[in-house]
Amino acid sequence: MDHFLYRDGNLFAEDVPLAEIAAEVGTPFYCYSAATLLRHFRLFEEALAGLPHLVCFAVKSNSNQAVLRLLGQAGAGMDVVSGGEYARAKAAGVPGDRIVFSGVGKTRAEMRAALEGGIRQFNVESEPEMEALSEVAVSLGVTAPIAVRVNPDVDAKTHAKIATGKSENKFGIPISRAAAVYARAAALPGLEVVGIDVHIGSQLTDLEPFRQAYRKVAELTGTLRAQGHDIRRLDLGGGLGIPYARSNEAPPLPLDYGAMIREELGHLDCEIEIEPGRLISGNAGIMVSGVIYVKAGEDRSFLILDAAMNDLVRPSMYDAHHDIVPLVEPAPAADQARYDVVGPVCETGDTFARGRDLPPCAPGDLVAFRSAGAYGAVMSSEYNTRPLIPEVLVQGGDWAVIRPRPGLDEIIARDRVPGWLSAASG
Ligand code: LLP
Repeated sequence: MDHFLYRDGNLFAEDVPLAEIAAEVGTPFYCYSAATLLRHFRLFEEALAGLPHLVCFAVKSNSNQAVLRLLGQAGAGMDVVSGGEYARAKAAGVPGDRIVFSGVGKTRAEMRAALEGGIRQFNVESEPEMEALSEVAVSLGVTAPIAVRVNPDVDAKTHAKIATGKSENKFGIPISRAAAVYARAAALPGLEVVGIDVHIGSQLTDLEPFRQAYRKVAELTGTLRAQGHDIRRLDLGGGLGIPYARSNEAPPLPLDYGAMIREELGHLDCEIEIEPGRLISGNAGIMVSGVIYVKAGEDRSFLILDAAMNDLVRPSMYDAHHDIVPLVEPAPAADQARYDVVGPVCETGDTFARGRDLPPCAPGDLVAFRSAGAYGAVMSSEYNTRPLIPEVLVQGGDWAVIRPRPGLDEIIARDRVPGWLSAASG
């Protein structure tokens, strides 16, 4: 459920007509619904009610500070994967003791910043990383709380580019080596083992791979406790999928996921952490774009939009489907036209959808890409010198630009032409 619905024939974000925002900020732009973000966060809270837990929003899915502030104020923790995300979470007012730091390549500088600013735990992914963290913590005279990310060798049955829990993936330490790695962690100064971490992939539409992974974590908890480690937190990662094509997808709900967690891990007397990103932010955002031209091809029509792959890369990168809907509600039995929906970027990969049925469109019409709140704005680039598009947050009848569209002058002014080039051409 989200809060992007037609009212009186026009698509609204909560109580605001999207056409009104488009008229003020221009297209394309991202728009997020605060009510949807909060609703999805609370679904996880309800799913884990009764278990000690912390829901850590995966900042990588949508890192706008307004979004982080909203979720942080509602009690969310944050899962960050870089010094930049850590700084954003802190700037948004999230206390360090609610921030977990994941990622295979944390630098010493990032470790230092997090230790100085306060951190709940590092999810450590290798022995070299563990040694580096030990050194940094000792040099600062502090103790770093750690969970070790284990790779359970489970097939998440999702797109290969976003599956992370198989032994051939770069993530975590092989679960078979966990005992040795935990023994090493316990022996290193400046580290305190607090738990186990696992994350097997993203956009999972079946609970079974999660269940297999969590079962292995439960077993490992017993083994490690028997070896004297104080395993008191289990970080179960993110990854629960969302319906992208509304008509025919029904992934498991947070409540089912929570029930499964309770079944597999509820008896272990551990604090549960989860790191959902997409399920909280995905359907809480849309991207609105305008039609520039409708072009007749040899055997098809191209709908050429003002948004492109640099603004929303998921279709090009993962062949992802996003529902596309007009801002003006089509009549129930309205005609349909079939389009290849494309952007202005100069490569064929800049295609959002092939053979998509939409009401007949004309230049100036507006469309919305649904499910664009996760891995949308955060993955955008300025390819083709296209300015990053604005982000807007709606809450009830209020709306605000939460990242403005930069001017071309700002973008051009960022480059520096070295003096010798000026001299040569002068
Ligand atoms: N925790 C860790 C350690 C992760 O690596 C990820 C996602 C998450 C949590 C959040 O997963 P989520 O709940 O959002 O599925 N750009 C891709 C998705 C990449 C996901 C990377 N890691 C996409 O657009 O589909």
